[in-house]
Amino acid sequence: MRRAIFPGSFDPPTNGHLDIIRRSSPLFDEIVIAVLNNPDKQPLFSVDERCDLIREILPSAECDDCSMVVESFSGLTADFARSKNASAIIRGIRAVGDYEYELRMALMNRRLQPEIETVFLTAAEEYSFVSSTLMKQVFELGGRVDGLVPDSVIEKMRERISNQ
Ligand code: PNS
Repeated sequence: MRRAIFPGSFDPPTNGHLDIIRRSSPLFDEIVIAVLNNPDKQPLFSVDERCDLIREILPSAECDDCSMVVESFSGLTADFARSKNASAIIRGIRAVGDYEYELRMALMNRRLQPEIETVFLTAAEEYSFVSSTLMKQVFELGGRVDGLVPDSVIEKMRERISNQ
């Protein structure tokens, strides 16, 4: 059983995340989408809301030979991967700018759990500039993010921002 985790903040999940999930699904039997519960950050969506948002959009990325589950976690990604008996940590690389940070994380995670490999996948060009932070900022300032964030997530962002 080849199991991987795909860790992230997912605040909010974007089409870039879905693209990486879609690309990684032929490589693994199971992918655990691991949503970080970071008490130091003030997210737009709670960790449970982020898990629910991902569960809602996941069918568009599902494939027959790979099962997918969504779970939250706290603490170290490497420890969570180990607790799931995962052999890999999936990370998406959008552009060169991501590489240095991702390399440092991958090397640290390898030091923490030497038997778990980080697998880097490159996002589709059309999502190479998409980050959750940018999507939130643009949306909050009235810009359009359709095509970059799933419609159901945009709807929830609209509700959340109008209630703030
Ligand atoms: O979606 P993000 O914000 O780029 O994801 C970053 C994430 C969650 C993968 C990273 O911050 C992380 O792994 N945090 C958990 C704490 C941890 O393991 N830190 C050491 C990383 S080497």
